[in-house]
Amino acid sequence: MIEIVDCTAADLDAICEIEKLSFGDPWPRKVFQEELKPRGFNFARLAKSKEEGRLAGFCLFFVFPQHEAQITNIAVHPDFRRRGVAKQLLFDALNFCREREAESVFLEVRPSNESARAFYKAMGFIQVGRRKNYYDDPREDALLLRYELTLSDESTHG
Ligand SMILES: CC(C)(COP(=O)(O)OP(=O)(O)OC[C@H]1O[C@@H](n2cnc3c(N)ncnc32)[C@H](O)[C@@H]1OP(=O)(O)O)[C@@H](O)C(=O)NCCC(=O)NCCS
Repeated sequence: MIEIVDCTAADLDAICEIEKLSFGDPWPRKVFQEELKPRGFNFARLAKSKEEGRLAGFCLFFVFPQHEAQITNIAVHPDFRRRGVAKQLLFDALNFCREREAESVFLEVRPSNESARAFYKAMGFIQVGRRKNYYDDPREDALLLRYELTLSDESTHG
């Protein structure tokens, strides 16, 4: 059983571990320390395994007053992949954004990240742009994806 909960400072080590296992260019710990400081528009939600008490995944996102939101980072521990954890995290975040009157949710993804692209496609994101040379290590464009929260007026269910 997975539960989606708020992030606390005590979760930082486990978040950094999942980040390192998930990306070739992981965010350093100090970036997470900054990103997790409350600024009014930034949010972090965690997926925790109830049985093991372990962190299974995390999702960081912004909700802006201009009716826009942005997923800035989402990752699931390799031990928990393909069990619907990212789907639960994403639906939680989408509902959170909808409650705060966001209409569109954006994110960037590497074209080479086939797992993430398949995940976002399955979740209903569509490609709306491309940012040239957006990523370093290795240098790569970003695909800009969008999810329209206004297309359904009910909560997103897992
Ligand atoms: C992308 C990622 C977050 C998906 O997490 P997950 O918990 O395994 O995803 P879910 O189990 O919720 O998948 C939901 C659906 O997305 C699709 N999907 C997810 N991973 C997929 C993969 N590797 N290949 C094909 N489809 C995939 C499937 O349709 C899946 O449903 P199914 O398992 O019933 O077929 C995970 O692979 C990950 O952490 N990757 C590394 C970090 C990363 O790339 N983050 C995104 C940065 S932009």
